[in-house]
Amino acid sequence: MNVRGQHYRTIWPKPGDDRVIQLIDQRFLPHQFVIEEVCTVAEMAAAIREMHVRGAGLIGAAAGYGMYLATFEPDLMAAAGQLKATRPTAVNLSWAIDRQLKNISAVKSAAEKQHVAFQTAREIADEDAEHCRRIGAHGLELIRSLSEKKAGAPVNILTHCNAGWLAFVDYGSATSPIYAAHDAGIPVHVWVDETRPRSQGSKLTAWELGEHGVPHTVIADNAGGHLMQRGNVDAVMVGTDRTTYTGDVANKIGTYLKALAAKDNAVPFYVALPSSSFDWNIRDGVNEIPIEERGSEEVNCADGWHAGHHVEVRVAPEGSPAANFGFDVTPRELVTRLITERGICEAKEESILELFPEHRS
Ligand code: MRU
Repeated sequence: MNVRGQHYRTIWPKPGDDRVIQLIDQRFLPHQFVIEEVCTVAEMAAAIREMHVRGAGLIGAAAGYGMYLATFEPDLMAAAGQLKATRPTAVNLSWAIDRQLKNISAVKSAAEKQHVAFQTAREIADEDAEHCRRIGAHGLELIRSLSEKKAGAPVNILTHCNAGWLAFVDYGSATSPIYAAHDAGIPVHVWVDETRPRSQGSKLTAWELGEHGVPHTVIADNAGGHLMQRGNVDAVMVGTDRTTYTGDVANKIGTYLKALAAKDNAVPFYVALPSSSFDWNIRDGVNEIPIEERGSEEVNCADGWHAGHHVEVRVAPEGSPAANFGFDVTPRELVTRLITERGICEAKEESILELFPEHRS
């Protein structure tokens, strides 16, 4: 996607020096555009854990490159363990690491392992971008049909967190259909949930949409129900960090409440995902998907930019304990459709497996 007119992906090998991986460090957005250079597994693990990179697809791509860096280090399995321990909810993490382990173990010499791991990391990244592009093409048709009922008025889409190109290698999942619609001349407007506690919506999604020229409005997380009651939301489109093969959707905390409000107001609730975000082993998302818990300071404090510096301020009383659940699970009954790179399906086992028959047991 474009940043001030220049095309970027979120992660790439440094031109002229493949031993270095470059990535957009999202901690500084939207106020500074910083590119970080990562050379070791420990650095890549820190970048994932501390959310320099984040979002399901990008976590997978970063893990893929992390495993490539691991082929220059003494203990491949220890590196895999270190990377897998960084963040528990996004299934793309273990998917990418396991894919690397399988390919690396198929060759013998150190040089071959390095070569195979580099190729695999690039494949993971390229596939992620291509799958997101296809999600955009499929989702575009949903937005087009919503638009046809609105006689030229903008289609209002509500999104939560950042499932944009920053959360993947390019295009994004939930935002890919929005970019495709905007580029096709369909008027769209996006309600951007700010997404406390880390504000991925107001910091990242709003920035992305602005860079692409898509009309949008940042709203407090609690505003969605009110807007839906008043007929100001035509569809909800979100991403997912892990979706079971039965259709239960783990996504950023607060998504479930939006799905409940959407159901009550007959607003379609769409979830966009590449197949790398399906968990083909877990049946019951509510009870089985691991939910990341992060530090209480993210809830007790707020942060932003002031006079050219990043500042953090305390909001809650000193000494008040806070709980910080990163994700929740929206049960399949509340999901209108899933948008994948192979097409659109119901959030039901049979419908998902029709698109992905290779996962039938
Ligand atoms: O904690 P994050 O920022 O890595 O969470 C991931 C997300 O941005 C969202 O949950 C997103 O909607 C799904 S990942 C494409």
